[in-house]
Amino acid sequence: MTRDPAQGAGGAAGLVTQGDWPADVAAFCDATRVLLTSDAARNSPPEVAAECAEMARLLAGVTAPICNPQAHELPAVRFLHPALQTVAPGPLQHLASTVAALAGGLWWRNKYRNSDARLYDRFGFCDLVGPDGVQASDQVTLGLVIVGPQTLYPLHEHPARELYLVLAGTADWAVDDTPFAPRPPGAFLLHHEMQPHAMRTGDETLLALSMWRGDIRAPSRFSEPKP
Ligand SMILES: [Fe+2]
Repeated sequence: MTRDPAQGAGGAAGLVTQGDWPADVAAFCDATRVLLTSDAARNSPPEVAAECAEMARLLAGVTAPICNPQAHELPAVRFLHPALQTVAPGPLQHLASTVAALAGGLWWRNKYRNSDARLYDRFGFCDLVGPDGVQASDQVTLGLVIVGPQTLYPLHEHPARELYLVLAGTADWAVDDTPFAPRPPGAFLLHHEMQPHAMRTGDETLLALSMWRGDIRAPSRFSEPKP
């Protein structure tokens, strides 16, 4: 995913009235930790399972107060509710319900307005936890990434270590020079520090949780083509 510190929360904000914003954010974080400590996470390949456990540990240690929402929408948000409707019953659907409760207050970001019309139209991310999140942390981020249908998010890389959990949509994913391969909802994906990775959607919107640790303030950048 892509973060640009210059686009941190707090800019063109509009305060949104939520039912119980702090409780809703806490429920989202709790549901995330349930997934990270589930049998599916523990039974993942060892390195992925270890990453799930570490992210769960870091998220459990986030105790900062939860700030008021400052909503900012992007064109890609039009894909959010349809994607949430596709989540299968079970723990993922519970997580999706916590996302739906937060939907009106999310600070969606995207730095492609002036550089890539399609990515601006179909891509967005928001952080709930992290330096730019509504719950501050300098150790971990937790947020959402959405990629609308028929969209390539090209190879990119960042210094932070990254864990994804696919919530909705089977998209194609690639790391390094490996071919694209489909990853369904429920899949965990680990990207090492500065490891190039890409996503490509077909007819389905991709909605995923994204978590960073390590150098979480450094933005991502598109990977240089190999000679
Ligand atoms: Fe990433």
